[in-house]
Amino acid sequence: MRLLSVRLIVSLVVGVTIVSLCSSGYEALVGKRNLRRDLQRRAAVLAESLAGNVERDLEKGTLQTLRRTVQRFANRENLIGLAVYDPEGHIISETRELEPLMAQTPPVVLQTLKSNQETDVFERISDKPVHIAVVPLRHQDKFLGVLAIVHDASYIRAQILQIWWETFFNALLYVVLIAMITLLIVRWSIEGPIARTANWMRSLRTGRMPSSRIGVPDVELFRPLAREVATFAESLNTARTAAEREARLRVEGQSQWTAERLAADVRTRLGTGKLFVVSNREPYVHMQRGRSVQISVPPSGLITALEPVLRASHGTWVAHGGGTADRDFVDRNDHLQVPPDDPQYTLRRVWLTKEEEEGYYYGFANEGLWPLCHIAHTRPIFREMDWERYQKVNRKFADALLEEIKDTQRPVVLVQDYHFALLPRMIKQKRPDARVAIFWHIPWPNAETFGICPWQRELVDGLLGADLVGFHIQAHCNNFLETTDRTVESRINWEHFTVQRGEHTTTVHPFPISVELDESAPQNSPSESRTALLKSLDVDALFIGVGVERVDYTKGVLERFLAVERFLEKYPRYLGQFTFVQVAAPSRSHLKRYHDLEAEIEAEAGRINWRFQRDKWRPILSLNRQHSHEEIQPLYKAADVCMVTSLHDGMNLVAKEFVAARNDESGVLILSIFTGAAHELRDALQVNPYDIDQMADAIRVALEMDPEEKQARMQHMRRTIREYNIYRWAATLITELTELRLDQQPTPAGQPARTQNPAA
Ligand code: G6P
Repeated sequence: MRLLSVRLIVSLVVGVTIVSLCSSGYEALVGKRNLRRDLQRRAAVLAESLAGNVERDLEKGTLQTLRRTVQRFANRENLIGLAVYDPEGHIISETRELEPLMAQTPPVVLQTLKSNQETDVFERISDKPVHIAVVPLRHQDKFLGVLAIVHDASYIRAQILQIWWETFFNALLYVVLIAMITLLIVRWSIEGPIARTANWMRSLRTGRMPSSRIGVPDVELFRPLAREVATFAESLNTARTAAEREARLRVEGQSQWTAERLAADVRTRLGTGKLFVVSNREPYVHMQRGRSVQISVPPSGLITALEPVLRASHGTWVAHGGGTADRDFVDRNDHLQVPPDDPQYTLRRVWLTKEEEEGYYYGFANEGLWPLCHIAHTRPIFREMDWERYQKVNRKFADALLEEIKDTQRPVVLVQDYHFALLPRMIKQKRPDARVAIFWHIPWPNAETFGICPWQRELVDGLLGADLVGFHIQAHCNNFLETTDRTVESRINWEHFTVQRGEHTTTVHPFPISVELDESAPQNSPSESRTALLKSLDVDALFIGVGVERVDYTKGVLERFLAVERFLEKYPRYLGQFTFVQVAAPSRSHLKRYHDLEAEIEAEAGRINWRFQRDKWRPILSLNRQHSHEEIQPLYKAADVCMVTSLHDGMNLVAKEFVAARNDESGVLILSIFTGAAHELRDALQVNPYDIDQMADAIRVALEMDPEEKQARMQHMRRTIREYNIYRWAATLITELTELRLDQQPTPAGQPARTQNPAA
C-alpha cells in the first residue's frame, strides 16, 4: 500500500512538473516576443521623431548642431546611444556611450546603406545583448546616410528569467499541494477501507467472525468489489460451517443429513444423469420495483430442499415465470442460469396467459383441488373451463420439460404438487426411460370426498403415470390407494404400496417434509429476545404467543383468535399480560374467499381487541404482510407459545420451523391434530382446533409449564427434526426413485394383488 502511495505521488509530481514546464516555456516565449516587439516599437518611434532633425542638420552641414541633437535624445530608457553614418558608412556623429561599443560599423548599418530600407536586428556586441534599428536619412530624394539607434536588450533576458522562476515556483507549489491532497485521499478513501476490509477478512479467515451475519465493511469506493468479496466470504463461511458440522457429526458417529451430504449423495446416485424439477412457483423471481428490479427467493421449504440438489447435479428447474420482470432476464430458450450470483443450474421459465393462470392456478388448483383435499368446509368449485385450462397448462409444462430432457438419457424428474397431476403420465408416454416422481404437498382426502371431483379418474390416471407418488404421511398414501381402487382399473399391492395399471407400476410412499434445524448457540436469552421484540412491535406484555400463516381458511386463524378470547375470559389474570402476535401474509387474494377471509381476520382481531384492550396493551396484534424468513426468526425465538391450529394440513412447516428456531430449548408448541406434523411432534400440546375451550386451556398450560418440562419436550422435538430434516426428505425421495426397477413385471394372473390394507 505504501509503495502504491509513493508510486502514485511520484507519477503525479513528474506529470504535473512536465505540464507546468511546458506551459511556462510557452509563456516565456510569448513574453520574449512581446518585449522585443515593444522595444522595436520604441526604437521606431524614436527614429521617427529624431530623423527629421538629423536630416535638417545634415543638409545644413552644421555638425555641431547635429551632435547636440543626437546627444539630446541620448538619455531615453534602455537607450545605449545613437550614431549617424554618411552614405559611405563613415561615422559622422555618435553619442559618448556608444563609442566603446561601435568601434566598427555594424553589418546592419552596411545592409541599410545598401538597401536604403529601414532594418533592425537583435544581436550581441562585446557580449552585450543589444537592439539596433537603422533608418535611412534623406532630403528630397538625396541620400544623406543612416541613423542607428542602439538599445540595451539585456533587460528582456532578465524579465524572461523572472517569468521562468515565477512559473517554476508556482509549479512547485502545485506539486506539493497535489501530492498532499493525493496522500490524504489515498489515506481516507483507499487505505482506510482497504485496511478495514483486510481486518474483516482476517477475522473471517481466523473464524472470529460471528456466522449469523457476515457484514462487509462500508467501502463506498469499492462497492462492486465488496459485493463479490461478500459473496465469496459467505461461501467460505458456509463451507467452514459445513465442514465443522460434518466433523462434529463424524466424531459423534451420527448420520445427520446436511446440504453437503445431500449434494454429494445425489452426485453419486445420478452419475452422468441429470435431475429435472417441475413446480408452479419458481426459485428466483424478478420483480419490477419502481425503476429497479428486485430478485427474491420465495420463502419455501421446497426451495430450501431442492436447491442443493439442483446445484450439485447442475440440473434444470422448470417453473412458471410469474415475476413482473421475469421475461427480461431469460435467453431465447427462456433459460436463466441461477443462482444469479453464482450460476450452478438452469431455470426454465414457462409463460402463462392471464386466462391460463386464472383457470389452472386460481380456478382448478386453488378453488377446486385445494378445498377438495383439505377438509376445511369450504366447498370446492369445479368448472369445465378451469379443467380445460388445467389440462392445457399441464400439457404446456410437459412440452417444456420434454424439450429440456430431449438430449438426456434416463433423466430423473421430480414433479411438485397438486398443480401438475396430469404431468407424470404425459411425460412417461413420450419418455418411458425417464424416472418420474410426483410429490403431493397437500393432504389426500378419503375416497368419498375425492369422488366429488368430476375428473377424479383423469387425475388419478395422470398421477399413476409416475414411477413414484409421494405424500407426507402414510394416511394420505392409504387414501390415495383407496381412491385409486375405486376409480381406475388397477392392481394394488398393499404390502408394498404399489399400483399396477396396465404395464406400469407406481410406488406410493410417505416422505415427511421438514426443515433445517438451527444448531447455533443462542445469541440472546429468551427474556432479552422478548424485550427487544416487544419494543420493536410497540407492545406492552409479559407473555407472547405467535402464529405465522398465509391467510388461508385451512389454517384455523379465526378459531385461534376465539381461543385467545376464551383464554382471557377464563383466566382474566392474563389480561394486560398476554399478547398474541399473528403474521397473516395475504395469499391468493385474487380469489373472493381469500379476500373475504383477510377482512374477517382483521374484523375478528378488532372485535376481540376492542373488548379487552387497555392502555397500551392489546390481546391480538395482527401483522398483515409477507414476512421474510429473517423477520420471522425473532418472533419464533421470543415467543412463549406458538399456535398451529390448522383445520387440515398436509404437514405444516410452521410447527417445525418454530421448533427448529428454538436453539434455547424453550417455548411451547400448540399443534392441531389435523396436521401431518402432529404425527412426528408428539411433545407438542396437541389440540382439536374445533374445540375452542381445549385450545384456551392449552394456552394456559403452555404459559404455566415448568421450565424443565418445556425443555424436555423441546429437546425431544428438536431431536426428531435433527434426524428427519429437509435434506433427508430430498435424499430419501431421490434414493427411492433412482433405485426403483422401471421394468417391473405385472403381478402374475391369479395372485391376489391386494394383500393388506393398513387403512382399513
Ligand atoms: C402451501 C402448500 C403447498 C403449495 C403452496 C402453494 O404452502 O403446502 O403445497 O404448493 O401452498 O402456495 P402458492 O402461494 O404458490 O399458491
